[in-house]
Amino acid sequence: MAILKVALLGDPVLRRKAAAVSRAVLRSTVFRRLVADMTATMKEYDGVGLAAPQVRESLRVVVIGAAANPRYPDAPQFPFRVLVNPRVTALRGPRIEWWEGCLSLPGLRGLVRRPGRVRVAYTDMKGRRRSMVADGFSAIVVQHETNHLDGKLYVDCLHDTRKLSYEREYGRYHAPAEKGKAD
Ligand code: NI
Repeated sequence: MAILKVALLGDPVLRRKAAAVSRAVLRSTVFRRLVADMTATMKEYDGVGLAAPQVRESLRVVVIGAAANPRYPDAPQFPFRVLVNPRVTALRGPRIEWWEGCLSLPGLRGLVRRPGRVRVAYTDMKGRRRSMVADGFSAIVVQHETNHLDGKLYVDCLHDTRKLSYEREYGRYHAPAEKGKAD
């Protein structure tokens, strides 16, 4: 496994619509290596999700998963998954706000409001069609990562650009009081 270089804001690959993963590609060694490398890269940088365009592969695959994570110390944990060709549908319920971060915009956080509960249809690594419901933090991550596949970044979803902050200032001025000081 290799730690891959992450494309940063301004790189056109982040703005491209990624291509669907075909059955043949899904079965290939190259694709399996890509997913293994994406997983290693996400963990190396304490991400909770990573989309293939972020490692300069314009393909519709994302990895998600949150174990104990220093970048999101107070966020709930959720299991690791590889989502191939994911399709997200919002479910009924309140929208939730989250201070999102992104490995392609290092050092920044921005407040985004999204549906709090979604259904995700996807293909797993064995080629099986699967479906899952995500809510709370995992719903936010799923939407953030699948947005990457359509060339969309969380900063496009800010409803108030005043709620964009460096991490240090986020910790100092915006993090909920019960989380304490982050810096
Ligand atoms: Ni991101």
